[in-house]
Amino acid sequence: MDAPLRDRLRALSSFPESLPFFDAQSAPADAAELFRQWLNDAIDAGLTAPHAVSFATAGPTGHVTSRILILKDLVDGRWVVAGARSTRKGLDLAANPQAAMTFWWPELGRQVRVVGEVEELSSEVAAADWAARPEVTTPANPDWAAWALEASEVEFWQARHDRQHVRLRYRAGEATPHLV
Ligand SMILES: Cc1cc2nc3c(=O)[nH]c(=O)nc-3n(C[C@H](O)[C@H](O)[C@H](O)COP(=O)(O)O)c2cc1C
Repeated sequence: MDAPLRDRLRALSSFPESLPFFDAQSAPADAAELFRQWLNDAIDAGLTAPHAVSFATAGPTGHVTSRILILKDLVDGRWVVAGARSTRKGLDLAANPQAAMTFWWPELGRQVRVVGEVEELSSEVAAADWAARPEVTTPANPDWAAWALEASEVEFWQARHDRQHVRLRYRAGEATPHLV
């Protein structure tokens, strides 16, 4: 018989043997710049879907849901995603334009959390995104929307084998990030 699930879970590792060293003291003053560096590291490392992100929204009744979305761009320090306006996320964002995103790059032992206000972008931006989808079959989709998240807080987390994990938090309006 298989070992109990809790034992099998306990035996799993969360991180690879080799982890990058994150020197938080020399991190850039701009969170978006550090995010770009870490995303590039994840792309260069050949990770599967390094641009996939957990995207959580809260609706008008306070219920919270999350789903995986693809990061479409980083424009003027804002994180851009896209999807159908008529979906739960679209309805949530129309009622409560706030979101929380979590990136997780297991092979690098890195997590990035981004929270902030979301703005729907122009229909031109949404149409261009729709048209660029490789599997697109219809020329236009008026339900398709693109949203940009303006971060109020970005937190970078680097795992360490000695469990002295490094957590660096950026807050909007603060000149420098701080360790937490
Ligand atoms: C790897 C991956 C990428 C996805 N990318 C998107 C995306 O970019 N936009 C989107 O609307 N849904 C995407 N989805 C589907 C969503 O996770 C979700 O099922 C869908 O958007 C409906 O969510 P909602 O009903 O909570 O709004 C993706 C799913 C996966 C697993």
